[in-house]
Amino acid sequence: MSIDPTSPVPKYAQLRDLLLEWIDETQLAVDGAVPSERELGLRYGLSRMTVRQTIDHLVAEGKLYRVPGKGTFLARPKIEMSLRMASFTEDMRARGFEPGAQDLARRIDPARGHVARMLDISPGSPVHHIERLRTADGEPMAIERSNIPLSVAPGLSEESLSGRSLYQLLEDDYGLLLDSGEQTIEAGLCDPTDARLLGLPTGSAVLLLQRRSFVNGTCVELAISTYRADRYQLHSTLDPRQ
Ligand code: GLP
Repeated sequence: MSIDPTSPVPKYAQLRDLLLEWIDETQLAVDGAVPSERELGLRYGLSRMTVRQTIDHLVAEGKLYRVPGKGTFLARPKIEMSLRMASFTEDMRARGFEPGAQDLARRIDPARGHVARMLDISPGSPVHHIERLRTADGEPMAIERSNIPLSVAPGLSEESLSGRSLYQLLEDDYGLLLDSGEQTIEAGLCDPTDARLLGLPTGSAVLLLQRRSFVNGTCVELAISTYRADRYQLHSTLDPRQ
């Protein structure tokens, strides 16, 4: 396989496909080295700039990573984010990772605009605001910002969440067994605050999630979260009857 100079597909994009094919065919192991930019340039008759563009894209996508002075290597496969109503804890355990949470902020705020509307409560009603850095095997994965009306879980601010699942706590201590939900997921760019917490360069690709969870038609949580796009991909099974 080689680069087709007459193709309307840009050369850096052709090289991307060739490189991914090469990784697949050679069954390159995670952390295995891909050929250097110089070698790739020579092999495919491309300028160093074009090769760098391809590698930059694959790094931004989370498929490769660079080690300065050493080279470029194959990254771990992304974690599949299931589109079920599972908690972060359940999701991570199901994938063989040890879930973790680090408290970033806990406070009670009066509900304003968007939060009040989404939770379907009057503006000014008190809401628990919980910000956590979520980790898998100690590695930062996401920042979750949960908003829970005080009325549904009055004593929540006194309870420790360290090493504890929020969903489990809501069920055990408040009898809140989530029975429905809705979620939107969109692409975004990481702002400086989240980038620092997630250990990413500012402007990295992220997935922005907004989830509302309900018990008997009452919204009990509005979560607005930032997930690393270099570590997550969405996965759903498709059923033509639904
Ligand atoms: C998921 C949801 C969040 C929710 C969290 C609870 O990640 N997107 O809305 O707050 O699970 O996770 P846990 O029960 O592990 O604290």
